[in-house]
Amino acid sequence: TVTTEVNEHSPEKLLTPVLSSFWDAEDAWTLDAYHRHEGYEGLRKALQMPPDDVIAYVKDSGLRGRGGAGFPTGMKWQFIPQGDGKPHYLVVNADESEPGTCKDIPLLFANPHSLVEGIVIACHAIRSNHAFIYLRGEAVPVLRRLHEAVREAYAAGYLGKNILGSGLDLELTVHAGAGAYICGEETALLDSLEGRRGQPRLRPPFPAVEGLYACPTVVNNVESIASVPAIMNKGKEWFRSMGSEKSPGFTLYSLSGHVARPGQYEAPLGITLRQLLDMSGGMRPGHRLKFWTPGGSSTPMLTDEHLDVPLDYEGVGGAGSMLGTKALQCFDETTCVVRAVTRWTEFYAHESCGKCTPCREGTYWLVQLLRDIEAGKGEMADLDKVADIADNINGKSFCALGDGAAAPIASSFKHFRAEYEQHITGKGCPFDPRKSTLWS
Ligand code: NAI
Ligand code: SF4
Repeated sequence: TVTTEVNEHSPEKLLTPVLSSFWDAEDAWTLDAYHRHEGYEGLRKALQMPPDDVIAYVKDSGLRGRGGAGFPTGMKWQFIPQGDGKPHYLVVNADESEPGTCKDIPLLFANPHSLVEGIVIACHAIRSNHAFIYLRGEAVPVLRRLHEAVREAYAAGYLGKNILGSGLDLELTVHAGAGAYICGEETALLDSLEGRRGQPRLRPPFPAVEGLYACPTVVNNVESIASVPAIMNKGKEWFRSMGSEKSPGFTLYSLSGHVARPGQYEAPLGITLRQLLDMSGGMRPGHRLKFWTPGGSSTPMLTDEHLDVPLDYEGVGGAGSMLGTKALQCFDETTCVVRAVTRWTEFYAHESCGKCTPCREGTYWLVQLLRDIEAGKGEMADLDKVADIADNINGKSFCALGDGAAAPIASSFKHFRAEYEQHITGKGCPFDPRKSTLWS
């Protein structure tokens, strides 16, 4: 749920609800509700502008990719060659699967038309006549709402032939994946969309040059595209008035874990976890923050020393992590860091596509070693083995999944190595209720 009740004294005054502004409405996902909230006004403005001007406008707004990497959206659109005689495609990556990340799926469930409108604007800009939404397959209720939103948009003339009399023709296809985390990697997603087994392709060529069916393709995250209509409607200066200079605008943060009020919080980039915790009621009563991830488990973990790090691409990077998907998973002092890292590593081993050796073999062996350590059957030498394997995955794997698997290990060793050692010397987990004094 989104917290929208704000008064001048409440910490929630920092909220900037745009995408989430009417999520609470009973009919939020319908075209009627979207129209009541200036829906498709941004499209009307964009269609009055030449495509290159729309690209320049989005570039000037400073919008950066919300899927995790923060690549400038307008610049990505500009990479699409013009006059090349080939079809151009827009593919929206809605395969949200990063552990802890839960912003695109709620956004699509509550406000699918913001994405549909953004798609039409983006396709006008990059001169595309066919767009695809690749949705995480498990999100069946979202799939139904998306299908309904697309049907409404065709019926209202926002999709199909000669959109709003502009001459733009656009078909929009919604495709549900089959539940593989790797299909969120943009090139594996394209392979999957083409009907093949989803495995990452070598980059370059980047999709902008050779993407879907070997044609120039923009792959953008849901939140990135859904943010475009408001930018076109309210202006790039309005967007730049929020956030920091290099990371402007509003964004959706997902707070989960041991917080009093978990959920999605829409606020400017550059605020801090301390401010977000103020809005979400803090950690659960009687407990304190031990460690957290800024953007899902693939981003190195931080601790309570980092409560005041600005949550933008520069600030979190400066603290030795990455902003990623803005999935803030918060763990309190009752959490065993070794157990948490083992669980994440099991996830990466399960989801590794098997294409490259460092990730396929490395994640398997990491799980074996970590399970032993967690169960009190490890030796001190195992810690060096774990660190060595993680080092041989990081930067040496074919795609970002490998780096993501190494991230929690390297960062937990940096901040909590003593806790790993405790599992070995104490022959078990100090957080195990059967052994721990924490629970007595
Ligand atoms: P990347 O930095 O390699 O690329 C980002 C985007 O910029 C891509 O679309 C890429 O095609 C484009 N790009 C980069 N350089 C380019 C160039 N020279 N020419 C043309 N286009 C270029 O990041 P990547 O590997 O695509 O994504 C990694 C991120 O994904 C991580 O930061 C992680 O946070 C996030 N992630 C998100 C998940 C989710 O569920 N939303 C799941 C797992 C990871
Ligand atoms: Fe596949 Fe892992 Fe290699 Fe990526 S890093 S290509 S997921 S085996």
